[in-house]
Amino acid sequence: MSRLFSPLTLRSVTFRNRTMVAPMCQYSSQHGLANEWHLVHLGRFALGGFGLVMVEATGVSPEGRISYGDMGLWEEAHIAPLARIAKFLKEQGAVPAIQLAHAGRKASTPIAWRGAFNETDDEKARYAFESWTPVAPSAHIHADKPGFTAPEALDASGIRKVIDDFASAAARAHRAGFDVAEIHGAHGYLLNQFLSPLANARSDHYGGSRENRMRLLLEVTEAVRAVWPADKPLFVRLSVTDGSPGGWSIEDSVVLAAELKARGVDLIDCSSGGFEGYALKPGPQYQVPLAAAVRKAGLPTAAVGLISDPQAAESILASGEADVIALARGALDDPNWAVHAHLALDPGEASYGLMPRQASARLRDRDRHMGIGGFAKGTSVPKG
Ligand SMILES: Cc1cc2nc3c(=O)[nH]c(=O)nc-3n(C[C@H](O)[C@H](O)[C@H](O)COP(=O)(O)O)c2cc1C
Repeated sequence: MSRLFSPLTLRSVTFRNRTMVAPMCQYSSQHGLANEWHLVHLGRFALGGFGLVMVEATGVSPEGRISYGDMGLWEEAHIAPLARIAKFLKEQGAVPAIQLAHAGRKASTPIAWRGAFNETDDEKARYAFESWTPVAPSAHIHADKPGFTAPEALDASGIRKVIDDFASAAARAHRAGFDVAEIHGAHGYLLNQFLSPLANARSDHYGGSRENRMRLLLEVTEAVRAVWPADKPLFVRLSVTDGSPGGWSIEDSVVLAAELKARGVDLIDCSSGGFEGYALKPGPQYQVPLAAAVRKAGLPTAAVGLISDPQAAESILASGEADVIALARGALDDPNWAVHAHLALDPGEASYGLMPRQASARLRDRDRHMGIGGFAKGTSVPKG
């Protein structure tokens, strides 16, 4: 059995394998509510054999959404439609997970595929259009580009609210039935803005030294861990490096990871970037060294970014660079990637068990006829 398809247990949650669907914004909610789109979009990854399926960046407050189409968990009404999704993912054998997020100064941006606020009045009414002034560590706009708005700097009570909002959203995520929560500390969003000198010019105890810049993420983590059940794992996604001159570095992340571990974080989901001037060159498995560096801080990591080859995924685990392999676009392209990767790494009868029972025997029989999936050509197939 490959490592990729051996189970992993964190706290009291066991993942059937080490594949994970990374969070992916769908910009398809109205008023922050999950709907049929999200159920089918996420459900197909559970049917496709992934060990963990993570719901997209979910706003802990309305002003923390990247766009008006983001998912939210800032009020009780958000729980029921998310609970339906968590239940389905679980019934299909995947661990239901959710990313809790605040976009900071990168909030209130246009829906990704529109590229601008070009909604007609009819569309504004239909899609529950909203725009607002974002908040941030400092009143510095993300970039002088269309789509970004100059933010207001958070004061002490605004910071307190951010911490409370993360904790309240985590408590709701538990009630919705999620077994993993991930704090979004990456991609140039609010918590990353506090970490990075590229966005944080504060002179209070949330700015200046690295210790001060880490403070908000650590306080959010403590508040979330306090309400998130002790038997459930907590992940943090980091931009392990901003990849921009003068920004947050890998070395900073190693220090931060140890602090997060001390506060009950179980895994760091290792991404990068989110600010202007990003200079890493995307290519196959390009972020794996980031996961490997953070893993040296002594806690499990997920590697993500242009991973699609099952053998490559297996060697990342075998060489001790990461503990979990996350896919985003690869999963959109092939929602059955986990099933296919299992057959590629562990050909034969047993791998068919990762498919839903409605499909497994039929596909196994087809593959026996075809002489694929580890079966010799012409293997006899019982009728039925
Ligand atoms: C459609 C789409 C939406 C995304 N939304 C999120 C998100 O909500 N939260 C997040 O942390 N990353 C988000 N990402 C980044 C992915 O989680 C992932 O880190 C990135 O796409 C690299 O992995 P890949 O090469 O397997 O796609 C998104 C990526 C895509 C393609």
